[in-house]
Amino acid sequence: MIGRIIGKSVGEIIFRLNYREDVKIGEILVADDEEKKALFFLRVVDIHYGQEGAEKWGIKTAGDMLLLDERKEKYDLREKERRLFKICICKPLGYVKNGKFYKPKTLPSHFCAVRRACSEDYKFLEKYMGDIEIGKLRSGEKEIDVKVGIKGELLPYHIGIFATTGMGKSNLMRVLAASAMRLGRYGILIIDPHGEYYEGSSYGKGLKHHPMASERLVVYSSNPSIGINSLKISAYEISVADIEDIFNFSEAQREALYALQSRFGRRWLIELYERSVEELSEIFERRIQDITFSVLKRRAERILSSDIIHMDEEVSTTDSIIENLLSGKVVLIDTSGLYEYEELLVGVVMARKILNHNKRLFRNKEKFSKIPPLLITIEEAQRVLQDGIFAQIAREGRKFKVGLCAITQQPKLIKEELLSQFNTFFILGLADEGDRNILKSSAKQDISKLEKEIQTLEVGEALITYPGAPFAIPAKIHFYDEYIKEIEKEEMVQNTMNEKIDEDFY
Ligand SMILES: Nc1ncnc2c1ncn2[C@@H]1O[C@H](COP(=O)(O)OP(=O)(O)OP(=O)(O)O)[C@@H](O)[C@H]1O
Ligand SMILES: [Mg+2]
Repeated sequence: MIGRIIGKSVGEIIFRLNYREDVKIGEILVADDEEKKALFFLRVVDIHYGQEGAEKWGIKTAGDMLLLDERKEKYDLREKERRLFKICICKPLGYVKNGKFYKPKTLPSHFCAVRRACSEDYKFLEKYMGDIEIGKLRSGEKEIDVKVGIKGELLPYHIGIFATTGMGKSNLMRVLAASAMRLGRYGILIIDPHGEYYEGSSYGKGLKHHPMASERLVVYSSNPSIGINSLKISAYEISVADIEDIFNFSEAQREALYALQSRFGRRWLIELYERSVEELSEIFERRIQDITFSVLKRRAERILSSDIIHMDEEVSTTDSIIENLLSGKVVLIDTSGLYEYEELLVGVVMARKILNHNKRLFRNKEKFSKIPPLLITIEEAQRVLQDGIFAQIAREGRKFKVGLCAITQQPKLIKEELLSQFNTFFILGLADEGDRNILKSSAKQDISKLEKEIQTLEVGEALITYPGAPFAIPAKIHFYDEYIKEIEKEEMVQNTMNEKIDEDFY
């Protein structure tokens, strides 16, 4: 026993901690209530000093000590164990009775004993955990031997990964991809502007080191090499809406763009590029100013000068990317060799194509029911998650099994209305108060009292919120390099078992 409950209400439990014990913010403790035959789960949200005795006793004692310090004499505090203690302030998470979890609606008995939780106590959590494993349960800084995973069917309900730089966003994304590759039943598109996911780097391994990479990972890049496909988009696949999502246009320019699209259809960009201003002017009976066409032509030239954009309708890898996703693979697009506008264009074109593809499939209920949930990840999501296709997917993607995984250091730059469309949050260490506040109001669990915990999260430590979870789940995210070693071991065991079955059979 490390403490005894002394107060205070259903919304906040406080207990006196044994002098010799130490607890940390974020730790989860249990009040083992024998009278009520229930286990109450308490999350430590703050810790205060406590002392018995007269009101000024502490101040006086410290004064005496300082005097003795000056004289280099030792001070002997009597009855330290009884007089000094700590008060832990806890947020009640709920209680388990007969194996069932209940929200915190009642109080544990007076002076109920508090102890540290063991993995047995967390058995009830198993049914809330999903198949996409990402780490282990955590109590404060300690890892608990209970696996934490998110449900694959929740992917289309969108995921947000929020953390200050260096706190473990990319590692988490790699772990998520590793789990998806192990399962082979979810399609995950990763757009990698930093070129950090495939090869890995000095600090760790990449997706190519995953034991199932050859079957479950497909890679595209503007810079193809062994094992990497060439990324190609046809000019015919680029719509005016795509261009609007990444460049700013005046009202007149926008009108001209839509006029071009309605006149030339899928060839609008090519016609704009190939025809002279004079020709265009004539075609549109001089209703559009020459200057507008010149500006738009320069944009078209810039777009078509990109190595990944092709004038030929047939030269494109987008269909094969979609096919791979729909067969439950992880598709990685390395855009690190491209300009930012090209990277954004790839993301926008792919996202729109995927959504439209699934919308078409949706009309055939039978076919649609067989396709796997898809997830499109976007790094530095605050750049694109304002309006346009990504905002559209955030709002309507769930119906068509298309989810977004938005990774950002600055959730406060994303509109609250859009953030609230994201059902699963991975909150890693977030230094900025504004960023924490916006998450507080849009998370699917109450995290209002977890301010101190979020501030003190170490690298790789997370709080996960999603609908249906009994409370914000504290987790330690697997370290990718170690996790793939584990998958490899598991694969080997599986293979020897299969060989054994074959041997016995023949
Ligand atoms: N779960 C983890 N367990 C152990 N170490 C981790 C974990 N997550 C991240 N790290 C370590 O922290 C370093 C930074 O992690 P990562 O690159 O994932 O951060 P990030 O949030 O993506 O940073 P940036 O904002 O710069 O992209 C990694 O090199 C890795 O060594
Ligand atoms: Mg990163």
